[in-house]
Amino acid sequence: MKITVVGAGAVGASCAEYIAIKNFASEVVLLDIKEGYAEGKAMDLMQTASLNGFDTRIVGTTGDYSKTANSDICVITSGIPRKPGMTREELIGINAGIVKEVSSNLVKNSPDTIIIVVSNPMDTMTYLVHKTTDLPKHRIIGMGGALDSARFKYRLAEALEAPISDVDGMVIGGHSDKGMVPLTRLATRNSVPVTEFISEERLSQVKEDTKVGGATLTKLLGTSAWYAPGAAVSGLVQAIACDQKKIFPCSTMLEGEYGLNDICIGVPVVLGRNGIEKIVAIELNDAEKEHMKESAEGVSKTNGLLSI
Ligand code: 2OP
Repeated sequence: MKITVVGAGAVGASCAEYIAIKNFASEVVLLDIKEGYAEGKAMDLMQTASLNGFDTRIVGTTGDYSKTANSDICVITSGIPRKPGMTREELIGINAGIVKEVSSNLVKNSPDTIIIVVSNPMDTMTYLVHKTTDLPKHRIIGMGGALDSARFKYRLAEALEAPISDVDGMVIGGHSDKGMVPLTRLATRNSVPVTEFISEERLSQVKEDTKVGGATLTKLLGTSAWYAPGAAVSGLVQAIACDQKKIFPCSTMLEGEYGLNDICIGVPVVLGRNGIEKIVAIELNDAEKEHMKESAEGVSKTNGLLSI
């Protein structure tokens, strides 16, 4: 199993590290445009192999896409991260050109690959890959919901004063500060609805803290987060590589599902060796449907800024 990660910055390198430590891939190629940067990160990570017990080979390259040839899965993390106070949408001007070039180079060298987009604004970047490559829609995946759901579970466990392993919850909708839809109605603590344990008011605070989870960290760190984004995308890579048939909320091209068309936005999907194997239709209540509609309007507005 060969995986390429484009962008050897904090998110890309964390993703490569988590993939290696899980030891399901034979090779991870880390590519960056900064001279020697990916090679250095790859070498540093390989020097943890005996310490962290993995046999995955991590190889770095400066812009040589031939090294990525025949990758089963390609992760795009390249582009600029946001600064405190910025929205993800403000990154479109620079990141759209980068993602378009990167995806074209990846598909040229790995025509059968599955692309996972992380670069922001992620839903719009995922849509861009659909419009500028000839990959089938089940092989283009946007990672946002897995990260947002991890933050949702973190906040739920905090409110419940429970171990995170007891908590389950999903965030759908756009990967944006205003567009996320945390499904509090379906969240559980070991199969018991969380509404049995915490008040509507506290649950509302959990939702709001989840939606600004990225911005909260950007304010603290001075740049976008990297550990949880890297871990979230490595989970999608593993689900595909190991044909796990796990359900994740991922940004995918909708053609009528959830009443939406010609848009990439976070919905539950089954991930397996073929990428998106099924879009899972869940029955949303009126309020959730309204939130999804508003979220889609926001994503479509950002898509409209693309010059495709
Ligand atoms: C985040 O929410 C980078 O969009 C990513 O942290």
